[in-house]
Amino acid sequence: TGSLRLAVIPGDGIGQEVTAEALKVLDVASPAAVKFEQTRYDLGAERYLATGEVLPDSVLGEIREHDAILLGAVGGKPNDPNLPPGLLERGLLLRLRFELDHYVNLRPSRIFPGVASPLAAPGDVDFVVVREGTEGPYTGNGGALRVGTPHEVATEVSVNTAFGVERVVRDAFARAQRRPRKKLTLVHKTNVLVHAGSVWWRITQAVAQEFPDVTVDYMHIDAAMIFMTTDPARFDVIVTDNLFGDIITDLAAAITGGIGLAASGNVNPDRTAPSMFEPVHGSAPDIAGQQKADPTAAILSVSLLLDHLGYADAAAAVERAVIDDLAAREPGTTRRTSEVGDAIAARVS
Ligand code: NAD
Ligand code: IPM
Ligand code: MN
Repeated sequence: TGSLRLAVIPGDGIGQEVTAEALKVLDVASPAAVKFEQTRYDLGAERYLATGEVLPDSVLGEIREHDAILLGAVGGKPNDPNLPPGLLERGLLLRLRFELDHYVNLRPSRIFPGVASPLAAPGDVDFVVVREGTEGPYTGNGGALRVGTPHEVATEVSVNTAFGVERVVRDAFARAQRRPRKKLTLVHKTNVLVHAGSVWWRITQAVAQEFPDVTVDYMHIDAAMIFMTTDPARFDVIVTDNLFGDIITDLAAAITGGIGLAASGNVNPDRTAPSMFEPVHGSAPDIAGQQKADPTAAILSVSLLLDHLGYADAAAAVERAVIDDLAAREPGTTRRTSEVGDAIAARVS
């Protein structure tokens, strides 16, 4: 009850369009007793190109004072000569994830009734990827020597701390324990990345002792991609590092009805800073500004946001509205982004 502060970062491209629909649904789904006080932050390519600012410290400080963050997508037009590669991705999106300690990047995948999978017989797919969000090859721990010469050397060294791995693995076990199948699959590449792999493997085995009712499985990342396409129903909770998790979750989206349906939460389980909810997809410059984007992923991210804030009923109502809308979609017809948002909002009850 009372009022909650929501930071809204629509960002770039279709981020703007899908966020508008997500807010529409949040508006109708919010419990009567709760008021979301929204602060909109215009961060992204436009702000950078106009002012040179990516994420000023003062803005980060303000965002930190909110209860949650809703983000659309970040990333400018491809190969824009005025936009250095990775500047927004690293300086805005990853900076938020790192500074706000979003160590659990939660990415659920389900095939909802009536949704077509490109797989002929996918089975009953319902799994969640717990992607580590603050370490791995994403830390920027690398560099380049003799750039532009035939002797150039570039490194991106993956950082895996016992502290960082243990906290995400424990969170994944706890999630597995709350799910009916109670199964956890560690995905890594321990046969080649032996140093990082060893940390993940040993910590998973050790934490497993605290969760004797959870079945533990291990797969190398390459084999996991075989099973994700041949038998995705076998997965329940997958725990993995930052980069593997990024790649797995785009495939997971593709096999469960497409990237337009994939939601995510960048969660700080210790609640020392606001968690951030966003679709898995990017700014989609190829369709931006045309009302062609599917806002469902952003809307399902609102469901994850409500759930995180403790409004399980409101979260379920949003999910139910999406499920009903998906089941009623007529193959071969297309709707504008705002039409999908309106339809889902109208179904929230
Ligand atoms: P993308 O996810 O933006 O697009 C990939 C493909 O999926 C495109 O064909 C796009 O049209 C389609 N698509 C994506 N979302 C859709 C939706 N809601 N409805 C219908 N179709 C959709 O990935 P990309 O093209 O690799 O990246 C574009 C930019 O976005 C890059 O700058 C990248 O760094 C950035 N990016 C940001 C995020 C984020 O903010 N979390 C995530 C991924 C990529
Ligand atoms: C995602 C995106 C980001 C990531 C990029 C844009 C930094 O691909 O959210 O999946 O790699 O995490
Ligand atoms: Mn990605």
